[in-house]
Amino acid sequence: MEKLAVLVSGSGTNLQAILDAAAADPDFGAEVVVVISDRAEVRALERAESAGVPAVVVPWNRDRATHTGAICDVAQEYGATAMVLAGYMRVLHAEAIRRFPDRILNIHPALLPSFPGTHGVAEALEYGVKVSGVTVHFVDEHVDHGPIIAQRVVPVLSGDTEDDLHARIHEQEHVLFPEVVKAFAHGRLHVEGRRVEWREP
Ligand code: GRF
Repeated sequence: MEKLAVLVSGSGTNLQAILDAAAADPDFGAEVVVVISDRAEVRALERAESAGVPAVVVPWNRDRATHTGAICDVAQEYGATAMVLAGYMRVLHAEAIRRFPDRILNIHPALLPSFPGTHGVAEALEYGVKVSGVTVHFVDEHVDHGPIIAQRVVPVLSGDTEDDLHARIHEQEHVLFPEVVKAFAHGRLHVEGRRVEWREP
């Protein structure tokens, strides 16, 4: 059984999707052992508490290496074997990759390598793309850059606001992220350079 530390900063709808999938699917192969947030009083922490999962706040302390070390320490104290970034708005230091090599997943609300960074949804809309989407990838030492595991395309519709497009992206995220976490937990994802091969279970 894969034991997940889920890192959050906000509403936690992706966390909820993973918690729900783990609860509903006896073959999910992963459980959330701790939720770690960089800020208190976010909805994601309430979701953790409602699910009976320990929730820990590790406040941002301006030093990326120390902050990352503290997060990895908490994750390992709770027995985590992998980390899942579900709307986590901080960049981790490379120390995290050393401690969890090919074992950190991130979800990004655009089709990488287009529109990396914090404002991916707004920037895709401003650029005028007709499709955007969702990317789930392994985390490496660069922002929104590691090997891509899965992507889903989401259309941009006439008159979309950032909220409209993000809502449509969120719907796809909530399906895709649990699917990827399950595949990861079943050992189906094989990283070969930049390419991730999905193997049969
Ligand atoms: C998601 O759109 C995710 O792709 C991005 O941040 C958002 C988090 O949403 N990294 P939530 O907190 O899971 O609701």
